Amino acid sequence: MATLRVESIGGLRARVRAAREEGKSIGCVPTMGALHAGHAALIDRARGDCGFVVATLFVNPMQFNERADLERYPRSLEADLAVCRRRGVDVLFVPAETEMYPRRATTFVDVEGLTDVLCGAFRPGHFRGVTTVVMKLLHIVVPDRAYFGEKDYQQLAVIRRMVEDLNLPVEIVSAATVREPDGLALSSRNRNLTAEQRAAALALPRALQAARRAVAAGERNAAALRRAAQRWFDREPLLRLEYFEIVDPESLQQVERIAGPVRIAAAAWAGKTRLIDNVAAG
Ligand code: PAF
Repeated sequence: MATLRVESIGGLRARVRAAREEGKSIGCVPTMGALHAGHAALIDRARGDCGFVVATLFVNPMQFNERADLERYPRSLEADLAVCRRRGVDVLFVPAETEMYPRRATTFVDVEGLTDVLCGAFRPGHFRGVTTVVMKLLHIVVPDRAYFGEKDYQQLAVIRRMVEDLNLPVEIVSAATVREPDGLALSSRNRNLTAEQRAAALALPRALQAARRAVAAGERNAAALRRAAQRWFDREPLLRLEYFEIVDPESLQQVERIAGPVRIAAAAWAGKTRLIDNVAAG
């Protein structure tokens, strides 16, 4: 099936309007490209739920803390278009930076509290960039449903909260993290790993799975879980742990004594590549 590549907001709105007039519901899968099986799972979900599927591809400068990180972000437009075609995406929206930000932005969306912890504590301004661009995309596409992966668990929680707080008429649908057979969570950034870093990166899912199993076996002390996790990273000189936290799944506030469901989330650096992952426990 043909995927139409659209670069202008006006062009996209015209396509979506036509689909609505045909009585189709609209699904939106926002991405920054370098599509992998995790994105494909979100597209498949949208395809199953909605009559018309829009994927967006915009490497959003506002959510990058450093210019160098933005420049290093993998880009593969032709391969991304091929993924969209194979999965039956109707429109791939690929706006230029000048289309999304024709002038220096002066209006932003800030979700307080949820964005101060976990990745937000280490990436000031990142979530403001995410929520601002997602808000813009939701206004441009006006989908019935928008799809986000659980791999970016904090992003998902922040977007859900924004939608709730601002009464946006969209259903946020999430999909489970897709992993390589050895457990590494799929991420566009994995493309930047050397073979040695890729092998070392396995400490991240392994530490999380070990913590999940420890909770299932009765461990209730978050500090003990953090200490055990640190040992996985101590054995991997190519990997530097940034945080390993046990948090409430909704408020994302740190939990010291586990008394119900929690999310265990971690971030680590392999060279200049930042990796994140999380699991549910409790
Ligand atoms: O998860 C991503 O790829 C991005 O943060 C998103 C949601 C497309 C916003 O730029």
